[in-house]
Amino acid sequence: MVFEVKNICCIGAGYVGGPSMAVIAKNCPDIQINVVDINIERIERWNDKNLKNLPIYEPGLEEIVKKCRGKNLHFSKNVNLNIANADMIFISVNTPTKTKGLGAGFASDLKWIEKSAREISKYAKGKTIIVEKSTLPVKTASTIKKILYSTSENSSDKNEKTFYILSNPEFLAEGSAIKDLDNPDRVLIGGEDEEAIKALSNLYIKWIDKEKILTTNLWSSELSKLISNAFLAQRISSINSVSAICEATGADIKEVSMAIGSDKRIGKFFLNAGPGFGGSCFKKDILNLIYICKHYGLDKVADYWEQVININSWQISRITQIIVEKLFGTVSGKRLVILGFSFKANTNDTRESPAIYICQKLMIEGGNLIIYDPKVDYSQIENDLNKKMASIEEIDHSEGEWYKSKNIYNAVQDADAVILLTEWDQFINLDWERISNSMRKPSWIFDTRYLLDPRIISSININYWRIGYGDKRGI
Ligand code: UDX
Ligand code: ADP
Repeated sequence: MVFEVKNICCIGAGYVGGPSMAVIAKNCPDIQINVVDINIERIERWNDKNLKNLPIYEPGLEEIVKKCRGKNLHFSKNVNLNIANADMIFISVNTPTKTKGLGAGFASDLKWIEKSAREISKYAKGKTIIVEKSTLPVKTASTIKKILYSTSENSSDKNEKTFYILSNPEFLAEGSAIKDLDNPDRVLIGGEDEEAIKALSNLYIKWIDKEKILTTNLWSSELSKLISNAFLAQRISSINSVSAICEATGADIKEVSMAIGSDKRIGKFFLNAGPGFGGSCFKKDILNLIYICKHYGLDKVADYWEQVININSWQISRITQIIVEKLFGTVSGKRLVILGFSFKANTNDTRESPAIYICQKLMIEGGNLIIYDPKVDYSQIENDLNKKMASIEEIDHSEGEWYKSKNIYNAVQDADAVILLTEWDQFINLDWERISNSMRKPSWIFDTRYLLDPRIISSININYWRIGYGDKRGI
């Protein structure tokens, strides 16, 4: 049978569901797309007339929402109705690591997936293609299938429901999501039913070359997503481990990255040393992989991947320790300016951001933090640090407090250190001489992203430490 997709429902209006559906809507004007979420505030923000209030910041997203919203892209809290009307349903709900119970600390919590499957089973009508978009443990499709069929067996209209399950993992990176969705390296579709696979491919071929659409069985597709993220994270831990060797030996991580990246077999991308990887995927997916390995008795393989996470945690602690040591072994009562709080540039997402851990550790040491980030709200920082924001007056008379500033030049007044944690472009061209002149001497810049131009900084009266290089002068 041939599927004609006219109406899509996406469950989950988050960092994956929102941008992915916006790009499908832009490229498939004949298809109606309803993105639904149980988080009503999130839906209200997606529908806000002022596009600056969208719940997610992604370059290029506002323009698409402006063009398509109300035409073929809709955001709604009415989950059941939109499931009932859909011929294709994307599941883009959150799957964080379990914090308690069986597999706690490693396995993904699938309660939101399960809830979605139960809702689909109850409300879907006729033939429906279910597409897994969220990153999931291998074999989740079989769990979804069991729920769909066992629940619908109890329903009075069971004969009218047929489900086709596909895995179509998302490879977008935050901050470049729209670019990645517009021009992906590949689209992966795993499944058993050829017509369902064709129906989904037909959406993508509206703007993506056929050759880029790869089809596999369900389990290969689910596993490939985990392994892609594990390989990428491994690369970051590898280069971060080398950053420490560079600081110890006098080598320069930029030069080493350039030298090794020129070998085509290694490749030049994804070799920037930094404060450690963050984001919602890398750690979660590797923990998941470790859990699967242990489940199948592959303990040595589990140990291997666990090292990627261990190096990441070590890099975060190592940086914090360097900061404290350079500031004469104590940051107590000192004013430390944090530049960037999101886990990478061009996103307001802070999940697993190294900034969270570094800030918490510095506050435990008594440091007073003035945090600046162009896109992260102070309320998000409060949640992440689990601590209310102090007033600027309190900052000067206490220890271990934080305050969010809207102005970097005010923030650096009498500060002992500027700690650059996220690679926002706007930090490169700050007036570093003016900043240095406002700070208390001896003052420091800690550049954990190797972002600033060392030649400019070396002409200024300030101590400068950067990742994978250290604090040597004479460039
Ligand atoms: C990642 C994958 O790239 C994407 O394919 C998948 O769908 C989701 O997970 P994301 O986490 O959004 O995407 O961002 P990514 O660009 O991969 O960065 C992850 C972390 O690694 C960030 O904290 C980033 O700062 C860090 N990173 C990345 C580095 O430290 N150095 C680099 O060279 C690249
Ligand atoms: P991701 O980065 O994977 O997109 P997010 O947390 O940003 O993760 O988004 C997932 C969204 O899914 C959240 O907004 C959450 O409220 C929503 N969600 C979770 N479970 C359900 C459900 N059963 N029905 C509708 N929306 C859901």
